[in-house]
Amino acid sequence: MNKESFSYGIGFHSLEREIVDPVQLQIQGELPRWLEGTLFRTGPSKFEVGQQTYNHWFDGLAMLHRFAFAEGRASYANRFLRSRAYREAERTGRISYREFATDPCRTLFGRLVAVFNPEPTDNCCVNVSNYGGEMVVFTESRLPIRFAPETLATLGVFDYEKQLRGQVSCAHPHFDAARECHYNHMIEFGLRSVYHLFRVKTSGTQEHVAEIPVDSPAYIHSFAMTEHYLVLVEFPLVVSALELKFSGRPFIQNYRWRPERGLRFHVIDKENGREVATARSDAAFAFHHVNAFEDEDILVIDIVAYPDPSIIDQLYLARVRAGTPIDATGMLTRFRVPLGETPVVRQTLAPVALELPRINYENHVGKPYRYIWGAGAQVAGDFLDNIVKIDVETGSVASWYEPGCYPGEPIFVGAPAAKAEDDGAILSVVLDSNKGISFLIVLDAATLTERARALAPHAIPFHFHGNYFPAAMEHRELT
Ligand SMILES: [Fe+2]
Repeated sequence: MNKESFSYGIGFHSLEREIVDPVQLQIQGELPRWLEGTLFRTGPSKFEVGQQTYNHWFDGLAMLHRFAFAEGRASYANRFLRSRAYREAERTGRISYREFATDPCRTLFGRLVAVFNPEPTDNCCVNVSNYGGEMVVFTESRLPIRFAPETLATLGVFDYEKQLRGQVSCAHPHFDAARECHYNHMIEFGLRSVYHLFRVKTSGTQEHVAEIPVDSPAYIHSFAMTEHYLVLVEFPLVVSALELKFSGRPFIQNYRWRPERGLRFHVIDKENGREVATARSDAAFAFHHVNAFEDEDILVIDIVAYPDPSIIDQLYLARVRAGTPIDATGMLTRFRVPLGETPVVRQTLAPVALELPRINYENHVGKPYRYIWGAGAQVAGDFLDNIVKIDVETGSVASWYEPGCYPGEPIFVGAPAAKAEDDGAILSVVLDSNKGISFLIVLDAATLTERARALAPHAIPFHFHGNYFPAAMEHRELT
């Protein structure tokens, strides 16, 4: 991509307009009649507060989006999450909480305030789930927020019990349908830092599962789950707990890349919390695990792996708004991690850029599987510009691409009574940079052919994650 063809900048600008009462969307093509349910998404939508601008794409104030499907029609609504971070920004006209790469305390006075009052953000712009029996949005602090699925109204913080200790948590909990709980992790920073693994049952009960002491905690955005195990993968982007507390730098700028540490795999038994294996491999960085499963005494763990964490630097707002080419490329990488002493085996499964990976989660999380859908970059240096489907058995890749269009995370929705793993639809919010609006595309999940698109009333800024809940199961756990 050259700068002349740069057109996706609109996806990194604020959307302030809220549509509280759902509006019907114009449909091109035909929505599957069986598509009856709601897609919730969250993402950054306000990048300026007063005269200040957040530094990074990951920092913007969260907005919720709701696409509801019924009888071949689709409606849309969107509202800002009324987090403490949002309300304080509105009240003071200033950025008020530390985000991923923004620290509001730039003055000496501010820095002192930050030391004595290091309140975490509750700007839940990362993911949506049905968690502990409630609809919840997540950021990476221990302050998920509950919201009303019908109105998108903010309800309040999801309260973690005091027994679950830690300041930083994970926005990608895993749902274990057999055990009727989500598993998740939290990092407790201190003189003795600890990774904590825990579960939140559908009933709301919270239980500590395991703790792993750590010298220099890693930045861990997601983790892996198989039928019997949880696997925490430490990437060698690590931080000193003291530096994190006292440096005055934004959160992620305290982390250092230490490739000589390599990758560290911690395998935890789900039932008794024992660490049953540890393993190492060469350095890599990742945000997203794709899936994992057990193959006799080997754990197969698929990750979108980068050679280093330079992707984080490439997503600062000033860079992406200027169209600076993005050349950090994540690829689907398989790690075969032994429960015994044999070495970890690493293999790239498909030579294509990939991010925001999804699978047929309901039927295949933690189990052998074949298909992955993700947002890819077809044009070198471009932002995510296509949707790819990868067959992990054959390595073959299918793609949906339209010039000037930038799709987000592709979510798989299974067809009723589906027999094949890829029998269903893919839903993805696409920014059409030619027309300056977004649309929700519905693809055949098997072939990636377009079935329909629902035209949104505005351009939706690029965002991260969401989930679809069938109408008949609106309150059942899916992820
Ligand atoms: Fe994520």
